[in-house]
Amino acid sequence: MKRAYLALESWFNISFGTEWNPLYHLGTLSFFLFWIILVSGIYLFIPFHGSLEGAHASVEAITHQQWYAGGVMRSLHRYASDAVIITVLLHMFKEFASGRYRGFRWFSWVTGIPNLWMIVTIGITGYWLVWDEMAQYIAVGSAQLMDALPIFSGAMTRNFVSGGMTDRFFILIEFLHLLGQPMLLLFMLWLHVKRLSNVDINPPRGLAAGTFVALLALSLLAPAVSHAPADLGRVPAEIRIDWYYLNVYPLLEYWPARHIWILTIGITLLLMAMPWLLPRKDGAKAVVDLDNCNGCGICFEDCPFDAITLQARTDGARYEHEVTVNSSLCGACGICAGSCPASNPFRSSREALKTGIDMPQLPVDQMRQQVRDAIATMTGDLKIIVFGCEHGINVERLNSGDTLGIKLICSGMLPPTLVEYALKQGADGVMVTGCRQNDCYFRFGNRWTRLRFAGERKPSLRARAERDRILIHGAAEPDAPAIERDLVAFRQHLRERNRVGVSGVGAEH
Ligand code: HEM
Repeated sequence: MKRAYLALESWFNISFGTEWNPLYHLGTLSFFLFWIILVSGIYLFIPFHGSLEGAHASVEAITHQQWYAGGVMRSLHRYASDAVIITVLLHMFKEFASGRYRGFRWFSWVTGIPNLWMIVTIGITGYWLVWDEMAQYIAVGSAQLMDALPIFSGAMTRNFVSGGMTDRFFILIEFLHLLGQPMLLLFMLWLHVKRLSNVDINPPRGLAAGTFVALLALSLLAPAVSHAPADLGRVPAEIRIDWYYLNVYPLLEYWPARHIWILTIGITLLLMAMPWLLPRKDGAKAVVDLDNCNGCGICFEDCPFDAITLQARTDGARYEHEVTVNSSLCGACGICAGSCPASNPFRSSREALKTGIDMPQLPVDQMRQQVRDAIATMTGDLKIIVFGCEHGINVERLNSGDTLGIKLICSGMLPPTLVEYALKQGADGVMVTGCRQNDCYFRFGNRWTRLRFAGERKPSLRARAERDRILIHGAAEPDAPAIERDLVAFRQHLRERNRVGVSGVGAEH
């Protein structure tokens, strides 16, 4: 599944470029679609008549008499709602295919599922409000579904038989669609991203603009229209169903409503149980060493999962703050170790390197030893170290006489000083490979790495490090051939550099 998804991403990269690839922004794109739905919904609400008598006529008037504004708004409302189902399903599939649903991430996964159902039910009540034949179809189908639940036990259908739909019930649907369900969805979305830090809810501007223009074009080309007005005394002959929202209703023709509930609840529970049905153990969690922590708070800023807290000092040291790790939130990515200023290999070169926050499975001291070993092992005319995130390409495939790969949990765990150290110790060049740009397994590893190496985020690569000896790459396994090609060019550059004895040439890679 992961391979299929990565192939799809590569294909989208060709069409949209890496910055605007919608597959890298599915969560934020869903939020953007919500804003379109919200604004168009407010516009539609103003002239809408919330009664059985007036609803259909008012929607028709909005659609036809004011096709250039109200009609477009209605179509935007409809198509953005359909699009959100696609983006949310893809978002869900992506998190699943890339394994980002289990371990410490169970919470985001489990709170995501109700969001999907909330959106579907908002769509259903929305279609209901038009009070046309499709709304009638939904009303009858929903009554059948509700009656299969023990709390209703036939009351809904009895209501329809005795008095049909009442205005009061219609107002309840209106309240649910306009206020109740959206407020609940908003709360669920807040819960959904609660365990993440620095959550961005806006897609890149170009992607947002392109999405809006596409929806606008669709709205003008194929405006959303209603069916004939609802008439409970007549069975509608033909319904053009919206399969994104109403796919469950046709099943009622074949199955009893009870079975449909069993299927829906079964799928929901199965999805929710996924993190435990296919479990994966997280790596060992980050550990703070107060003797080496000055409470600077950089790891607190950089942690993608809000697992680090900055609090008042407890050990009597002269610093104001210290950090603590909440191990149930920690993703064991090591980004904090990469951000700690004490993760500086030039310190204590003889004894073990102790840092303020570290990963027990791959301490910074071990990384420094790996660098020393790699330099001592390489036999070619060049010495190139490739630091690679284990979720990107397998760097060991690049091993040769002049190149040695060192695996990291995440590229963000690499302190820039360790790269400087490798160059000082005899490496001719260093390559760093993280996940694809905008697609980091640990959310911010590759972004922080780029910013740190560009000198735009602490701890940054020092000015004295020769930039042209460092190559930073974002890649997933299918991109390995591109990395290999870049490595060939990098080798050539380093050889040329050694031949003419240049120092600090600003070559671009
Ligand atoms: C209304 C629909 C949804 C919206 C708007 C939404 C939005 C988001 C956003 C903005 C993030 C943060 C991404 C980041 O900054 O890295 C996120 C994360 C996540 N979402 Fe959703 N989501 C929705 C539904 C779902 C669903 C249905 C699932 C799956 C059941 C899901 C699973 C996840 C997971 C597992 C993460 C955590 C990713 C990580 O830890 O790196 N989401 N979502």
